[in-house]
Amino acid sequence: MAMIVRCPNPEDTEALGASLGRHAMPGTVVALSGDLGAGKTVFARGVGAGLGVTTRVQSPSYIIVQSHEGGRLPFAHADLYRLGDADELEQLGLDDVLDAGGMVLIEWAERFPEVLPTDHVVCVIREVADGRAVELSATGPSAQQLLEKL
Ligand SMILES: Nc1ncnc2c1ncn2[C@@H]1O[C@H](COP(=O)(O)OP(=O)(O)OP(=O)(O)O)[C@@H](O)[C@H]1O
Ligand SMILES: [Mg+2]
Repeated sequence: MAMIVRCPNPEDTEALGASLGRHAMPGTVVALSGDLGAGKTVFARGVGAGLGVTTRVQSPSYIIVQSHEGGRLPFAHADLYRLGDADELEQLGLDDVLDAGGMVLIEWAERFPEVLPTDHVVCVIREVADGRAVELSATGPSAQQLLEKL
């Protein structure tokens, strides 16, 4: 199942992310793609809000992974745009967050598809004439179950 949601304004993209954050389960992984400025970080901010994290969600580019606390689940927000190679990824601790029952959201995940678990949510944000079109799909049963709740 793939669903496409029209998001004319940043608030709509954020609200869609918030819905995902409210329904995310321990171990949820979301691969976010879209051009520079598509709205991936806006979506991630919504996820953080939906989880109820107390720290600010912003572009984590320079530090690659930003961990957020205080929410319903631990939340790691990664941006692989500047990551050199997949070996560096192992040091980022994403697996630790998942082992701790958290959720992980990865911007530019398509640069390192090998790091993704088989079962994850794919979110592609495209610029369209009136804002953005956000396409959500699942690669396995847990992700599918999550999308059905949105
Ligand atoms: N419908 C929309 N949904 C999301 N963002 C929108 C929308 N319309 C306009 N924008 C604007 O587009 C920009 C998206 O920026 P954002 O940092 O989220 O992009 P990004 O995909 O994370 O980019 P990068 O690849 O550089 O990390 C914001 O300035 C936001 O206000
Ligand atoms: Mg971003």
